[in-house]
Amino acid sequence: MKEQTLALIKPCAIAKHYQGLIIHDILEAGFEIKAMKMLHLTTEEARAFYVVHKEKDFYEPLIKFMTSGSIIALILEKQNAIADYRQLMGKTDPKSALEGTLRKKYAVNTRHNAVHGSDSLENAKKEIAFFF
Ligand code: CMP
Repeated sequence: MKEQTLALIKPCAIAKHYQGLIIHDILEAGFEIKAMKMLHLTTEEARAFYVVHKEKDFYEPLIKFMTSGSIIALILEKQNAIADYRQLMGKTDPKSALEGTLRKKYAVNTRHNAVHGSDSLENAKKEIAFFF
């Protein structure tokens, strides 16, 4: 059965003009883009989106980063979309990401890691509802 996931292209990738390349890679990997929009998160919105990380030491710098510029939010659809998009993204830290993954190709470091993707069906539903 087809599944949907929420993908974000982060400010670091947009600042480097990687958004076209990332969208190309997503389409080449067989995902259908069901919705897409560019927006600039407020601090309150970024805090709410990443609330699960609020106790982590990287939370405040992450919020600052995610509100530092525009992002692109996408709803991606395909069979097994959640796991397949996480595989396409690669590991959070681009140094550990496999060759050919989005983070290997476009990320700078663990925080400035170019893209986000939902990690479960439950979170995909929540994250899609957050943006669309
Ligand atoms: P993302 O997949 O959007 O989910 C949470 C984000 O927090 C993650 O990508 C990174 O941008 C950031 N993050 C996760 N772990 C760390 C870390 N150890 N140091 C800095 N930033 C992190």
